[in-house]
Amino acid sequence: MEIKLNNPHGTVWLRLAAVYFVVGVWLGIYMGASGDRSLYPVHAHLNLLGWVSMALFGILFRKFPAMGASPLARIQFWLYNLGLPLLMLAVAAIHRGYRAMEPVAGVASIVLGIAVLLFALNVFRNAGN
Ligand code: HEM
Repeated sequence: MEIKLNNPHGTVWLRLAAVYFVVGVWLGIYMGASGDRSLYPVHAHLNLLGWVSMALFGILFRKFPAMGASPLARIQFWLYNLGLPLLMLAVAAIHRGYRAMEPVAGVASIVLGIAVLLFALNVFRNAGN
């Protein structure tokens, strides 16, 4: 199956959003059921940077096909999907006591931040009517 990363309909982003929603919500259910809240920042960011932000990317790429066709979309896709899982793993490790992962979290958050800058640039350039 060919995955079109600059798919103007944003299908890939919507599917990724759904995956993050499932993982984020079930982590919340685990936290509630077990009483172990130590991973609450991971839960919050899986839901907000994963589910909510990715669903918005998908919706915007559908609404504005020029955004999806831009090279900015492809670079943003790879940086975001590299940075977010790495950041989540690093934050989880840190909250489990592995503070040595702090530099990894720092690098991952900068990668994610660059992806967000590219997304914002794409909005300014291509989300007009
Ligand atoms: C069945 C669904 C969910 C369950 C069972 C759940 C459960 C939880 C639990 C147990 C906490 C820790 C609360 C604490 O220790 O004070 C938490 C925190 C949080 N959750 Fe969820 N959650 C769910 C869905 C969501 C969704 C959909 C979002 C965002 C879109 C979200 C965002 C957050 C945020 C931002 C926090 C941190 C709040 C704070 O630190 O004050 N959660 N959640």
